[in-house]
Amino acid sequence: MSAVAPRVLGCCSELYELPIVDYLLGQSFHPGGPRLTRQLASTALVGPKSEVLDVACGNGNSARIIAADFGASVTGCDFSDINLQRAAVASRSAKLEASTSFVRGNAEQLPFGGKSFDVVLCECSLCLFENLNAALAEIFRVLKAGGRVSISDFYLNAPVPRVLDGLLGQALCVAGADSIDTLRCAFSAVGFEYVRLRKANWALTEMIARVRRNLAVLDTASPADLTLPASWGDPAQTLAELERFIHSEGGGYLVITAQKPPE
Ligand SMILES: C[S@@+](CC[C@H](N)C(=O)[O-])C[C@H]1O[C@@H](n2cnc3c(N)ncnc32)[C@H](O)[C@@H]1O
Repeated sequence: MSAVAPRVLGCCSELYELPIVDYLLGQSFHPGGPRLTRQLASTALVGPKSEVLDVACGNGNSARIIAADFGASVTGCDFSDINLQRAAVASRSAKLEASTSFVRGNAEQLPFGGKSFDVVLCECSLCLFENLNAALAEIFRVLKAGGRVSISDFYLNAPVPRVLDGLLGQALCVAGADSIDTLRCAFSAVGFEYVRLRKANWALTEMIARVRRNLAVLDTASPADLTLPASWGDPAQTLAELERFIHSEGGGYLVITAQKPPE
């Protein structure tokens, strides 16, 4: 575990409601963007008959991609009322309200019955949950027997540098991540089988480039309603530090897939 302040339920949800975070990250609040979302869904064999749960769905962008591209029914669950409202509005505009729905809930106490879903996705959010084991146990519970889980998240080999320890580090999914071993053990401990962890650092390179692009436009155009919080320090320096941290193997991005055993 990193030496960061304890994760606080709701605190990071408010972070992802900030217009500046929405602006800097763009539509996808996770490294790898829509490309990685499609990979997660393909690996989990999502198809037109699949009932999919997206845990910590944010603004619902991934739910819409999976509904539109794979024909699945997707339920998004998140702690943030504001992002759930944004998700519902965007789904109506995209005419996807029949195949997407959004429900408020805590990943550690999912508001669904057992064995409800064929596939559970969770992108860049495990590292934000207060209790990793509780969230994985809930994902396991709501999956049908033989159901698949497909997750992407940051992992750490070393404590995060101070500059990545703050709110911007949290927005970039860095602070609070676990080691590869901790993640592997946690998946196996709740009962998952065929647990596979694959590195996907290209997704972080993609995200850093995306945030840098958006930051550059912000510098020159400076829209009046977007102000960088003073507590973030210099975001350009944070991004450079993140890049150095990844290159030095201090941490990286992972795709984790696993299956709930068939009955
Ligand atoms: C990095 S964003 C990822 C959003 C989305 N998965 C995506 O990739 O665009 C993290 C999301 O996790 C949600 N979140 C954090 N803790 C949560 C919890 N305990 N239960 C449900 N959602 C949570 C936040 O509200 C936020 O929308």
